[in-house]
Amino acid sequence: MPRKDSSERVPKDAPLSIVILAAGRGTRMQSDLPKVMQPLAGAPLLSYVLELAAQLEPAMTYVVYGDGAERMREHFANAPVHWALQAEQLGTGHALLQAMPAVPDNHRVLVLYGDVPLLRIESLRELIAVAGGRNLALLSAAPADTTGYGRIVRGARGALLRIVEERDATARERSIREVNSGVLLAPAGLMRKWLGQLRPRNAQREYYLTDVVALALRARTRVVAVMADDAAEVQGVNDRLQLAEAEAEYRRRRARALMSQGVTLIDPARLDVRGEVTVGRDVLLDVNVVLHGPVHLADRVRIGPNCVLANASVGPGTVLYANCVVQNAQIGGGCEIGPFTRLRPHARLADGVHLGNFVEVKNSVIGERSKVNHLSYVGDSEIGSRVNVGAGTITCNYDGANKWRTEIGSGAFIGSGCMLVAPVKVGDGATIGAGSTITSDAPAGKLTLARSRQVTIEQWERPIKRPPKP
Ligand code: UD1
Ligand code: MG
Repeated sequence: MPRKDSSERVPKDAPLSIVILAAGRGTRMQSDLPKVMQPLAGAPLLSYVLELAAQLEPAMTYVVYGDGAERMREHFANAPVHWALQAEQLGTGHALLQAMPAVPDNHRVLVLYGDVPLLRIESLRELIAVAGGRNLALLSAAPADTTGYGRIVRGARGALLRIVEERDATARERSIREVNSGVLLAPAGLMRKWLGQLRPRNAQREYYLTDVVALALRARTRVVAVMADDAAEVQGVNDRLQLAEAEAEYRRRRARALMSQGVTLIDPARLDVRGEVTVGRDVLLDVNVVLHGPVHLADRVRIGPNCVLANASVGPGTVLYANCVVQNAQIGGGCEIGPFTRLRPHARLADGVHLGNFVEVKNSVIGERSKVNHLSYVGDSEIGSRVNVGAGTITCNYDGANKWRTEIGSGAFIGSGCMLVAPVKVGDGATIGAGSTITSDAPAGKLTLARSRQVTIEQWERPIKRPPKP
């Protein structure tokens, strides 16, 4: 009879060490990228697990990583974690063992999987509560599709017996609906003992962490399973299909969160929210909008279909019509933008600005109530207030080697089809005739033209086609 485990109990508020298993090769992904570096809503899977871990304020977090995953360490160089190398991928039990030398016996150890990114913090807290200082606690779930998961095997009276991996399961065991999420918590001393007893006697010849359940029960440690309310949170990501499913779940969550904050979504399934997004009241988002935080949308902002905003703030009451792309830009209140406007890094629009179709603005400030309505490029410029820039006007900011600035004073009127060859200044209230190529400063309040005069050739005759030679 194995020795009873009771001697290795710890206080129920013993310090928490978290170990994140992230060394698996991720063969099923068919990718050169380590699996936990695959992007979910634009950020690596592992970043979500690290975020969850941080919220639990552990004494320490360890990440077990694999050979050749140095890039991953570099990516998370600033994360407050210790790294443990698992040189050979001999299974999840073996992976945990690589971090255990650093974990003191009087800690509780919580195991998270780097490929299970959508856990809810509430479920983890509940697990920690039921584990106390003496139990082995695991998070289970009952997803609609159980493919690939370990199954929770229970006895006739419902007592937990062990976890069986799908590949090792009998047909009957495979029909079990309750699956293992991979999340596990136990006193560290006990965990160490069980890990030492693991044997790779299974289809994959691996040291399965899941076998600690049967070992714990044999030593009469209580094993408690907490069933996640929502199976979606335990979703593991092993292949591209599951990655897409996790993305869909993440999308649903973010959409629900925005609606609960009072945002109108024309179709919650056709909105992607990534990173931090803050909103005012009565914001409306039409279909196929992508918000890549940090994004702030003030009161009554309306975003039309197919707009992409990354690192942007939009002032109250502003409307973006369909198909605008905004990256690293600030938009004031009461503006009308688009359709088909592109705001590139360091575009700053004051209140009441109108930008229309096929207008591109980069590294420029546009003052209050100014309008650039059609087919223009504004780059490295400072435009005052109430300026009107006619259709097809270009700030020629690049001479092939350097970028130069264009300044346009308040109240100026730039006719259509002008080339403003920087460095150049247009004074307040100046008017520039259509089709001008402005190469020197244009004075305030005056009309400046820079184009050849129109001539008509009276005697000119249009050539006619000669008849072919016989
Ligand atoms: C594992 C569980 C299964 C559970 C499922 C939940 C085991 C044996 N099985 O299966 O019961 O239902 O997760 O998603 O634990 N890893 C290493 N080193 C290794 C092997 C794996 O670090 O040698 C890491 C992987 O990077 C991954 C995690 O451990 O983050 C899980 O490994 P994976 O191979 O995905 O196990 P599953 O087959 O999903
Ligand atoms: Mg997995």
